Amino acid sequence: MGELSQIDTFCSNVQVSRETISSLKKYEDLLIKYNSGLNLVGKSTINEIWSRHFLDSAQVIDLINKNINSCIDIGSGAGFPGLVLALLLKHKKSQVNFKILEKSPKKCNFLKLVSSELGLDTEIICQDIKNIKKINCDFAIARAFKPLPEIFEIIHSKINFSAKLVLFLGAKQSGLLDETSKKWNMEYKQRKSITSSDSLIIEVNKLERLD
Ligand SMILES: C[S@@+](CC[C@H](N)C(=O)[O-])C[C@H]1O[C@@H](n2cnc3c(N)ncnc32)[C@H](O)[C@@H]1O
Repeated sequence: MGELSQIDTFCSNVQVSRETISSLKKYEDLLIKYNSGLNLVGKSTINEIWSRHFLDSAQVIDLINKNINSCIDIGSGAGFPGLVLALLLKHKKSQVNFKILEKSPKKCNFLKLVSSELGLDTEIICQDIKNIKKINCDFAIARAFKPLPEIFEIIHSKINFSAKLVLFLGAKQSGLLDETSKKWNMEYKQRKSITSSDSLIIEVNKLERLD
């Protein structure tokens, strides 16, 4: 799909202003400029940034209450979904502070560059989550971060959140959901991803370890 068709599809799924589109174009330019040196997104997706990364990230915007104080994106890579969501919320006049956690210093430099170019209210935390004791936030989100059982362990031990957790699960991870959820006392809702029919978005409201 050409870029214009991808932008059309994006706009028919997510309500955004012209200003948001021009910020996303700037973000796309930076991704293309730095991708070969930093391996930010798979080469096969570099011509499909709007559909494979921007729209995929943006599809959960309705799950974030714009009045919360803070949200963390764990293992953000090139900024998905954290920077896309921070941008959409900024243009909705939300004050949510985004913590963007990424262990790769090179990717963190890229994340800082994009944040500054787009004027986003983000805190780029360049650390391995294993070295962090506890993070306070209202909302946590992760896309393609780790296998599902490991994500639950990490979230449970590191994130101190009272609101929600939203996870993007690819085909393999979706298959692990039933088995993994038996090991936790959890409440969650699931829905199909709009960008990939075998992927799921899950919204977890309660996550307690079963003894
Ligand atoms: C497969 S990439 C996904 C990136 C992005 N969320 C996306 O959907 O495109 C996983 C990212 O998590 C980061 N990561 C892996 N383990 C981590 C850890 N223990 N702490 C912080 N970041 C980590 C990696 O450096 C990588 O950028």
